Amino acid sequence: MARRPILVFDSGIGGLTVLREIRQVLPDRRLVYVADDAGFPYGDWDEDRLRDRLIALMGRLLRDHAPEIVVIACNTAATLALADLRAAYPNACFVGTVPAIKPAAERSRSRLVSVLATPATVRRDYTRQLIATFAAHCEINLVGSRQLARLAEAHVQNNADDDAAIRAEIAPCFVEKAGQRTDIVVLACTHYPFLAGVFERLAPWPVQWLDPAPAIARHVLSVSTVAVSPAEPAAATGEGTDPVALFTSRRPNPAQRRLMEQFGLRVAVPGPGLIA
Ligand code: DGL
Repeated sequence: MARRPILVFDSGIGGLTVLREIRQVLPDRRLVYVADDAGFPYGDWDEDRLRDRLIALMGRLLRDHAPEIVVIACNTAATLALADLRAAYPNACFVGTVPAIKPAAERSRSRLVSVLATPATVRRDYTRQLIATFAAHCEINLVGSRQLARLAEAHVQNNADDDAAIRAEIAPCFVEKAGQRTDIVVLACTHYPFLAGVFERLAPWPVQWLDPAPAIARHVLSVSTVAVSPAEPAAATGEGTDPVALFTSRRPNPAQRRLMEQFGLRVAVPGPGLIA
């Protein structure tokens, strides 16, 4: 049986933090990584326009790659359009990344939890509903960052950190109240785990930086129905068996190319019609 790939989608490089965890649990599965870099950053988009873009783009990707599972490895996209994507493509299997508010509220001792995300994700009804459903007993501090997704791209692509800018973006996460301090910060943008080491270095006190990627990967494993036998020869998977990365801009820069290679992905040119 030919194995259909798992498609991992983000606006940029952030979805790689989810892809690397999926690799841990499904090491033999072919992966297709799609960066809608022509639309980056999603945090700045008008909701209706972004929803339309995601639905159109996904239609094309489903036709071209017939993935078994599509992982929307982008909180900004998933909190907006996961339900719309499922409604538009009922035969496709979507797994989303949404803010890990439930596990954070379960684990927090101080009951002061911050959610660090794009400004769009903190505005979403979806995020507000997660708080109302799972975190009523905690004080949830929503921190919308304008700059961090870009700063994460700079960190990964150019190895360049602007400590002062990063410190200013994470500062509102740290709350002291009635003798208690924030003890968990939810990384609710898939770009941010790339900066986890920098966050730890710049934090005014130690907190748990909660990255949901391992949990998302376990969920992908649980919904994956195609049995993978390590003995199965690669040829059995049909043509195009190598993991690839596609950029909607069609013009990834040298740093983006290098990064994809480091993640074992060959940069492929998308077919005509993938919107830019
Ligand atoms: N990686 C995306 C997320 O998880 C957002 C980055 C952006 O496009 O602003 O929200």
